[in-house]
Amino acid sequence: MQKINAAITAVGGYVPEYRLTNAELEKMVDTNDEWIKSRTGISERRILKEEGKGSSDLAVPAVLELCKKRGISPEEIDCLICATVTPDMVFPATANIICDKIGALNAFSFDVMAACSGFLYALTTGTAFIESGRYKKVVIVGVDKMSSIVDYSDRTTCIIFGDGAGAVLLEAVDENIGVLDSLLKSDGSGSKFLHMKAGGSIKPSTVETVLAKEHFVYQEGQAVFKFAVKGMADVSFELMQRNNLTADDIAWLVPHQANLRIIDATANRMGLPKEKVMINIEKYGNTTAGTLPLCLWEWEKRLKKGDNIILAAFGGGFTWGATWVKWAYNS
Ligand code: UT7
Repeated sequence: MQKINAAITAVGGYVPEYRLTNAELEKMVDTNDEWIKSRTGISERRILKEEGKGSSDLAVPAVLELCKKRGISPEEIDCLICATVTPDMVFPATANIICDKIGALNAFSFDVMAACSGFLYALTTGTAFIESGRYKKVVIVGVDKMSSIVDYSDRTTCIIFGDGAGAVLLEAVDENIGVLDSLLKSDGSGSKFLHMKAGGSIKPSTVETVLAKEHFVYQEGQAVFKFAVKGMADVSFELMQRNNLTADDIAWLVPHQANLRIIDATANRMGLPKEKVMINIEKYGNTTAGTLPLCLWEWEKRLKKGDNIILAAFGGGFTWGATWVKWAYNS
């Protein structure tokens, strides 16, 4: 029997209008444009400012865009998986809310939480649903409204993060294209370096937890940096090796946009020149689960059928991984 593959057949993306520039951050905390650019590569990030709007409001335009591009109705979606660490609410799943807002009446939906690697975890899960033969159209969303959990008086974190969403449609194909391999890893002992202290079941929200600023991202940047450089580079290299891919075979690296220095280290380890690396961190900062699909969204027109693409990420958990995609269409 012919193997069913899961191909990405459309991409959508959305970033909010408001641009939080390095110049504006200079007025908020003790930092400067030169430090931020040289240490991270970021010039500005997009922020969802409107009251009462959450991650689902970033995701909805991204999913509607891909439906329009592919010429499908949201009712044709069988399953929608949303990767996020900033759900609209603790429960229900943001995926449920997105489906309601777009009229995806026939989809079952759930959230995946794997921080910055969330999109790869969700993509790998959705791929398995398609490969099983049971589902034909699965939407994978990566979205975060990081501004909702960032302390804008903490210069070590507020300069990094931004808001944004991207989404891809996975469809069943019988050609040897699509999501061909994934190598995912996790190590919960890394949680001490990157987490949110309160609001979970160990430490429910109280007046004290709010006053102690325990509902914001806590990150030990240097420690995370060290693990990220090694983790993202190693896993990408391992994925290349086990699929006999050389640097020449690879058209694009799509790296998680956390820090330009981590991206450079990964590309170097893979032997890839800068021209083959998607980088938009200067415009959007780190949108957590949003970074990878936002890159695909921006580069979509330059991608050609048959291009070998490696997506790679590292984030809270720790979670990390790399995925090999053979691109399925010309735009
Ligand atoms: O996406 C999820 C996973 N997260 C990551 O991958 C993030 C990984 N970590 C990083 O990207 C980097 O560690 C940061 C960008 C967070 C920080 O960069 P760094 O090069 O590791 O800086 P550092 O923490 O070692 O700090 C160096 C110096 C310190 O001053 P002293 O002690 O040398 O005098 C900091 O206090 O820079 C200072 N500093 C700043 N200065 C100006 C820290 N933040 C700032 C700032 N502006 N915003």
